[in-house]
Amino acid sequence: MYEQLWKELEDTKEIPHRFNRLHIMPWYWIKAEILNGMAHNIINNLYKGDAYLIKDAFPREFMTDLISDVHDYCTINEESFHKMLEGTPDFHRRITPELSKKYSIGSCKHSCYFYHWNEDPFSIFPDINARWRVLKSLMGLQYNEYEDNTPKDGVVDRIQVVRYPPQIGYLEPHVDAHQHQRLIFSGYMSKRGVHYQDGGFYLINGSDEVINIEDQIDVGDILFCYASVYHGVAPCDLDVEPDWTKKDGRWFLSMYSNASDELVDHQGNPFPPRATAAPTKLYIPEVLPHYEPKTTK
Ligand SMILES: [Fe+2]
Repeated sequence: MYEQLWKELEDTKEIPHRFNRLHIMPWYWIKAEILNGMAHNIINNLYKGDAYLIKDAFPREFMTDLISDVHDYCTINEESFHKMLEGTPDFHRRITPELSKKYSIGSCKHSCYFYHWNEDPFSIFPDINARWRVLKSLMGLQYNEYEDNTPKDGVVDRIQVVRYPPQIGYLEPHVDAHQHQRLIFSGYMSKRGVHYQDGGFYLINGSDEVINIEDQIDVGDILFCYASVYHGVAPCDLDVEPDWTKKDGRWFLSMYSNASDELVDHQGNPFPPRATAAPTKLYIPEVLPHYEPKTTK
């Protein structure tokens, strides 16, 4: 429905890197606009670097229940890591600042990954796909694109539930790959001023200014913007002792279609070349952790 417009924009203009303007609207409204073929203006805005904060996209209980479930899951199950290969299991991993050096962008977070070919232990795929399908339509994809793919097909859907522990949790300013999923699609599970203070998600505008929109975010909202717009997560609760086993800090839900690790060329390199996130190379101390490494449990 929208693929032609996206292609025209991408063929004639540079992809957006800087945040331009925030739009806030309810889920029921934007869902109708998208599905009724009325979202051309929204797409033009997205390609200028605008972000859309959508209120009440998920029931609040969906998010609060998911935090409890994932916290229990991470307590019961051992940490592990698995590449995106055929049959890969769900897993969780504490990505410490040291471990994050193995990743393309700096971060400190506890991530729990879910794939549709596993048992979906908390039955989240039906509710998430109901929203993701609308977003996929907006992105110019088939409404169910990638939904049944497995790693051998090249691109797979992955759900990530993330906890940013107090004080040390962060995600450096970066861009995400836009080749398979044009928009980043974020679900908010925590509220600033209630579950944590300070910090959180931000976008960066054309003057290198950090635009933090967390005060306008409630649990159950979603946000989307073009994936190449600079964004990151600033540490929260700098005065709180971090503890990887606790439930405090900031929680976040990410839905992303990733190139798998399954396809390699004859030299063993990912093929087609994997598009991944990349740092912005901007140095903005106010959004980075002040590392005086403290002992964590
Ligand atoms: Fe991102």
